[in-house]
Amino acid sequence: MSSNDKQFATAFITVLGGLTLLVIILFFIASYLTKDVSSYKDEELTLSNIEPVGKVNIDDGSVPQAAATPAAVVAETAGAVPVAAAEPLSGEQIYQRNCMACHTAGAAGAPKLGDVAAWAPRIGQGMDTLMAHVTNGLNAMPPKGLCMTCSEAELKSVVDYIISQSQ
Ligand code: HEC
Repeated sequence: MSSNDKQFATAFITVLGGLTLLVIILFFIASYLTKDVSSYKDEELTLSNIEPVGKVNIDDGSVPQAAATPAAVVAETAGAVPVAAAEPLSGEQIYQRNCMACHTAGAAGAPKLGDVAAWAPRIGQGMDTLMAHVTNGLNAMPPKGLCMTCSEAELKSVVDYIISQSQ
């Protein structure tokens, strides 16, 4: 090897070594800079990012039927503010939800709402008796009129409503 060749070889190896070192340094800088980005690979985050906006509420039996009222289903699918369940219902609302089926149609001999003649003797028994019959049931009249979640005060407000409409 001539000294020219030797000089070339030395320079060549030096440049090559320098470039290799540069590649290694750049690699570490790059991986340092992308460190935060790698958290986006987190599976949970990805799943929550691609989650559908709405869900179809299919009754698979896991939720008690009473909880899946149409209003709740609509609220859930529309993503709307849920119906405030905590707010006590008015006597009229409870009547329409629980008592109307029998007392508007007069089913099973139920005294009809607004039937003054049918209600007069019942109202005449006094509130205590009426409330006892509503709470415990009376013949075909089921206990609590089937409003099992109704408090005593709520039941009283329904009876007040029925009386106000039937005298
Ligand atoms: C399954 C049908 C049915 C439902 C639901 C029902 N009732 Fe009745 N209710 C009756 C029948 C039948 C009677 C008459 C009972 C009798 O005198 O033999 C009656 C009677 C009553 C009476 C008169 C009781 C008395 O002492 O004469 C009241 C008050 C009353 N219901 C309130 C309610 C209220 C409030 C609700 C809802 C929370 C309700 N009912 C739901 C069938 C029903």
